[in-house]
This record gives sequence, structure tokens and C-alpha cells, in this order.
Amino acid sequence: MQITKLTGFMGAEVRGVQLRAPHGPDLKADLRSALRTHHMIVLRDQNLDLSDQKRVTEIFGPLMQLPYVQPRADDPHVIAVLKEAREINVGVFGGDWHSDFSFLANPPAGSVLSAVDVPAVDGDTLWASQTAAYDSLPADLKGIVTDRMAVHVGAPYGVKHAPPPDARSGASIQMTRGDPKADVEQFHPAVITDPVSGARALFVNPIYTTRFDGMSAAESAPILRALYQHATRPDISCRLKWQVGDLVIWDNRMTLHYATNDYDGTRRLLYRTTWQGQPPQ
Ligand code: SIN
Repeated sequence: MQITKLTGFMGAEVRGVQLRAPHGPDLKADLRSALRTHHMIVLRDQNLDLSDQKRVTEIFGPLMQLPYVQPRADDPHVIAVLKEAREINVGVFGGDWHSDFSFLANPPAGSVLSAVDVPAVDGDTLWASQTAAYDSLPADLKGIVTDRMAVHVGAPYGVKHAPPPDARSGASIQMTRGDPKADVEQFHPAVITDPVSGARALFVNPIYTTRFDGMSAAESAPILRALYQHATRPDISCRLKWQVGDLVIWDNRMTLHYATNDYDGTRRLLYRTTWQGQPPQ
């Protein structure tokens, strides 16, 4: 296995591995270690079928079924992240900086995307390292977030904070909206620790974090704005130009990610699987 870093703070390309072949314990340990170090890894030319992709996902943890987003009809663990060429001027799934489903009591630990049909030059995905974000936080912000709980709600799926209809994604991804249960506040530490490496990461979410425990939304808003600006800086990010056959694996707790929406008129299809871990600590 050869590992080449993509940027200074996060992301790596892993070469010399074909994941269709059976995975021995050494390969699994090496992949886990690469992900723990780089937080996002890409393996080119994998062209996995869905059962291969699920086996790879299970190297990292048990498969997780996500609420609110309709999975493939034949497999509750697989989401088709699809925008058809005819879907013009609509939002895309994941088209804002976020980590996945942080409004759950136990948000996904990580996700896997495989590229089936991708535009030639656009439709990139970006990730930002939240360990680098935490490490480089100015002292005043670090003081505010350390040992503080942040409050998350499932805004796009609930009632109270529902986005306007014109901000919603296209028809190719079906979501359940208007569920009052998604408005229930969930409390997570604003700074979390990787249980194995001990690395600390900022854990606030531009889509789902509404306020800090002990503060109102209005008091929290300027702090959250400053944190989001800091947490999505280009210097702590990496950007992937997709190729058909790519497999990308990322840590959903140590990163934020962002799907660009610059490919109207072109079809883009990736399959996504997700694994479970322990609640963020
Ligand atoms: C997501 O999982 O948020 C979507 C990522 C992408 O489509 O690039």
C-alpha cells in the first residue's frame, strides 16, 4: 500500500490495493490506520459493486441505516446520491458544509462513496479537517467551545427550522420532511476526542447546530459564524475531482464535507454507505 498525502492537513490517496479481492487482517488494519491519520482516503479504479462496497464499509464499523433519506429500494444501507442531467437549478444533497446527521444521538462515524457516473470536470467534493480547525482555533474561541455542549437539530427534516422549498434538493433523492421528532435538541460536546488517537476535533455543524448549551440561539449565532468561517478555511481543506471507479472513505466526526453544485446538465451518481461508532465523546 502506498499513501500519498493530498494536502498539508488532510486527505490521502491510497495506491496498490484492489478492494474487490478478499480483505486480510493486515489490509484492514492498514486501511483503518490510513483513515485515522488522514481522515479521508481515496482509492482510484476500484469499480466496486454494492456488496463489495458494504464489505469495505464494515472494515470500519457496522453498517448504519440513515433516517429521513430514502435508500435504494433493494438495499436499506445504500443511498444513491444522484442528480440527473435534467435537474437544473436545484440544490444538491450535501451542498453545504456539514458532517452527516449530527442531530442523532449517535451520528454516523464515517461514510463511503463510490463514483458510478461523474461529470468530467465538475461536481467535486470538499472536506475540511476539524482536528486542524481545533488545533488552530484562536484562544478566545477555544476557551468558549472547550468543555461546552453544542445543540444539534435535524433542521431540514423537521418543522421549526425547515428550509424554504426552493432551497431543497432535486427529485432524484427523496427525503422525509416535516417530522417534529427531527426538531428534538441533541447535545454533543463542541470538541470531541478520537478514542484511539486522542486527537481533538471541533464538532459543530453549519446545518444542524443551532446554539450552545446555556446560551440562546441569538447569543450563539456570532460565535457559530466565527467557528464555521474558521472550520472551512481552504488551508485545512482538500478537494477531490472524481473519476469513475473512485472509492472515498471519510471520518464523519473529524471532518466537514461539501458537495459542489456546478454541474447542471450532467448526470452524477455515487453510492453512499455509512458505518456506526460510539457516540461522540
Ligand atoms: C454527501 O454525502 O454529503 C454528498 C457528497 C457528494 O455528493 O459529493
